[in-house]
Amino acid sequence: MADSKFTILPAHVGVIMDGNGRWAKNRGLPRKMGHIEGAKTFRKIGEYAGNLGIRHISFYAFSTENWSRPEDEVTAIMKLFGDYLKEAEDRLQENLEKGIRLRFLGDRSALTDELRYAMDYLEDATKDMTKVNLNLAINYGGQQEILHSVKNIAEDILSEKIKPQDITLETIQAGLYTKEQPPVDLVIRPSGEQRLSNFLLWQSAYAEFWYSDVLWPDFTENDFDEALRAFEKRNRRFGGV
Ligand code: IPE
Ligand code: IPE
Ligand code: MG
Repeated sequence: MADSKFTILPAHVGVIMDGNGRWAKNRGLPRKMGHIEGAKTFRKIGEYAGNLGIRHISFYAFSTENWSRPEDEVTAIMKLFGDYLKEAEDRLQENLEKGIRLRFLGDRSALTDELRYAMDYLEDATKDMTKVNLNLAINYGGQQEILHSVKNIAEDILSEKIKPQDITLETIQAGLYTKEQPPVDLVIRPSGEQRLSNFLLWQSAYAEFWYSDVLWPDFTENDFDEALRAFEKRNRRFGGV
């Protein structure tokens, strides 16, 4: 049920889950512990957003640039992702009852067969769900996503499926991981950084941005409410007056 405490809800929210490492460092813990806590916050906020009636939500879990981190950190993040996939399989029935459709954004060719198999399985098993569209971006880069779409278009031109003059914004959109989803209305980034870090570049063309100094593992439902309240007050003009 949509919650009545907001008059306007963004159709699509993007969440850059940042600050895990600093959260751990502040406690004298290894960075991995921050990712473990951050993964809990992801589950909590994902569920909360669905209960509020947010139809589309995309969480940024691992960027194409994050491979440059120490190997043990990358391994820990991939392990947490694998744990999430297993849990989502175990809870498939529950997710279906809640109408949750799962999608994974990003280039999965660099991931293990085991992860890819589980991702394909979950996407397929939830593909008829329409209530909540939950996206998890993993090995995702916004520029790479656009490049991928452009390459598809080039192939279609070579095979004479389309002509260059027929290319529209929709043609490019059709090659994105979020092809059937609305543009991002609101980008939430905790941890004090105010940048997009290659997240949903195309989709966020007219997004509102909301930043907070809270580190992702400390992010609460109240912080999410605060972002939505700020969004309600924004005057969106889309180039008009
Ligand atoms: C976000 O937290 C998680 C990933 C990028 C995988 P960070 O690990 O970037 O945390 P900080 O920015 O170092 O605090
Ligand atoms: C963005 O965070 C990526 C994710 C949250 C998955 P980063 O911590 O990698 O971004 P930068 O390096 O500070 O821009
Ligand atoms: Mg970071």
